[in-house]
Amino acid sequence: MDTKPPPPVLEFARLTGRLVELRPHAPSDAAALFPLVHKQAAVTDMLIWNGPDASEDLERLFSAWPSKDPALAEPGALGGGLDYFFTIHGLAAGQPVGHCGIRFTETPGMANLGYWMGERFWGGGLCTEAVSLLTWLALETLQAPAVEALCLARNLGSQRVLEKNGFIRDTSFEPETPRHGSASAPDDANPCELRYVLARSTYQPPEGLPVSAEIRIAPSLMS
Ligand SMILES: CC(C)(COP(=O)(O)OP(=O)(O)OC[C@H]1O[C@@H](n2cnc3c(N)ncnc32)[C@H](O)[C@@H]1OP(=O)(O)O)[C@@H](O)C(=O)NCCC(=O)NCCS
Repeated sequence: MDTKPPPPVLEFARLTGRLVELRPHAPSDAAALFPLVHKQAAVTDMLIWNGPDASEDLERLFSAWPSKDPALAEPGALGGGLDYFFTIHGLAAGQPVGHCGIRFTETPGMANLGYWMGERFWGGGLCTEAVSLLTWLALETLQAPAVEALCLARNLGSQRVLEKNGFIRDTSFEPETPRHGSASAPDDANPCELRYVLARSTYQPPEGLPVSAEIRIAPSLMS
């Protein structure tokens, strides 16, 4: 009989770093995040999403956290089979600067990371820290055996963020249909998608991060 406790399901998580804080998306974040992604080709050309048409679209997306009720979580599934999406708050800017999230519903047995930042906040190390916090949550708290991220070959910034966090490129990965950038940039000359992976067995938790963490596990699974 398998006596291993089921992987935890998150009811809430707030992770604070030195540069950013990750908080569950809230509808009130939509007003600040909408102009950072609406019709921002520099951002959406690298995503599998074209961005919202209206601020209300984001408000709707942000109104449920996680994406479904933890009570409906599938017992035993990684992360409860739920997706956890966060607003990245810039501590110096004092406002939402981007989005990041962990999907457990993308690849079985794997935590799949996604992220974007408003262009005016690029280059300050904010996304690197956000990915570090998210990876810590997935591997240390949610017990994922590995974390993966997919990105376009031309997305050098994203590759650098992953490499700085210890992710290794999976050279055996052969995407069937590249999706990143396909919505906004259908004529992309280099649509090749790369896969980066970080396994828990080789993971070195970052020194001093998170600075603080407030995490609540869904009570239904704590007994
Ligand atoms: C990818 C992205 C999230 C990075 O955000 P960021 O806050 O600028 O990231 P950081 O500042 O933490 O780190 C970026 C790193 O990439 C490097 N970089 C950025 N553009 C680069 C380029 N064209 N060539 C080489 N390196 C590049 C930066 O120099 C930095 O590395 P360094 O710290 O060693 O100098 C941001 O560019 C973005 O939102 N892009 C559009 C959406 C996206 O690509 N999402 C990911 C989809 S897989």
